[in-house]
Amino acid sequence: MNQLYYLDNAASTPLCPKARDTLFALHDEHYANPSSGHSAGREARGMVEVFRERAARILGWDPGGVIFTSCATESNNLLLKARPYQRIIIGSTEHGSIYMPSMRLQQAGVTVDTIRVGKDGLIDLEHLGELLREPADLVSVMAANNETGAGRSICGVARLVKEWQPGTLFHTDAAQAVSPHTWPVDTKDIDFITLSSHKFHGPKGVGMLLAPPEFQFLPLLEGGGQEEGRRSGTTPLPIIGSMVAGLEESMANRGDDFNKRCNMFWDRLREIPSVEISGVRDEGAYWIANAGFSGIRGDALARALESRGVMVSMGSACSGQGKKKSRVLDAMKVDGKKGHIRISLNYLQTTEHLSAAADIIHDVYKTYALG
Ligand SMILES: Cc1ncc(COP(=O)(O)O)c(C=O)c1O
Repeated sequence: MNQLYYLDNAASTPLCPKARDTLFALHDEHYANPSSGHSAGREARGMVEVFRERAARILGWDPGGVIFTSCATESNNLLLKARPYQRIIIGSTEHGSIYMPSMRLQQAGVTVDTIRVGKDGLIDLEHLGELLREPADLVSVMAANNETGAGRSICGVARLVKEWQPGTLFHTDAAQAVSPHTWPVDTKDIDFITLSSHKFHGPKGVGMLLAPPEFQFLPLLEGGGQEEGRRSGTTPLPIIGSMVAGLEESMANRGDDFNKRCNMFWDRLREIPSVEISGVRDEGAYWIANAGFSGIRGDALARALESRGVMVSMGSACSGQGKKKSRVLDAMKVDGKKGHIRISLNYLQTTEHLSAAADIIHDVYKTYALG
């Protein structure tokens, strides 16, 4: 069997060792329901609060505004359905979990405007300024794009929004932006942030929405009143704790060394004639890129790579393996004649491992595209 080169970490990352250990330890030692009144329940509840504080500390947020959800999709939907908005503004390359509910709101009569992006995938700030000549309830701009990694200082975008319309709420989907370089250091102009555990080496089935502690939500899920009534459902302590371990590890390990390893990898790909790498910028998710190749379709290249053990994707894993035309590449007016694949790396992958994967990509491209 081929060795596996998993280059689809924007779709999901493997559990890191600390997240795995935390997951099993919590399942073994704190399986009581954190809402139960007995001492085992109280202990589990105490642990939930310890992890909430740890997440808040590393993310620079008030623990009272850390809401545990099941995933980034839920966090984004929770925010978009939290209030009866009249006008919202979103980036044109937002993930489907912002885009689709926004389109539904539009059908229901809410004004939804989209911000243009440039060829580099970054939102056009001039266009955002024009859109904000009129008041809006909410602006949502992702911190790093899931298909290209493109992103710019989100604190800067938030500051401009507040300058232009101080009463407008600002949200960023940071599902793909957990690293010491991409995380917004100054969160004072940001009202909401979305996170997803399985994008940063935590388990699947858990995420967060960071919000102002006093913000009034119309909850998506009602029942037991957990998370201060903002998100009902039994609090899943083991995956929450494991997520926080993954978060701490990713913040510690996705720094300069990882950035260097990623750049080494992208430089190897750039040696392939005519290859075009979009979205690799130090302010964005430098471990995610979209690569366009001449003379071969993206799906054919992805299949050929898979036959050699290299797993890449055609775009967002949530959009049916890229069978539909990418809304993101379309918005960026990317050359439609090339075959595009998304490649995304993780910090557990060594230089040797990534070099071997790059060799295979060179080899497969030579065999299939250049004949
Ligand atoms: C930017 C972005 N937002 C939201 C999501 C949805 O994440 P989840 O799988 O946690 O619902 C994804 C997943 O790819 C994403 O990349």
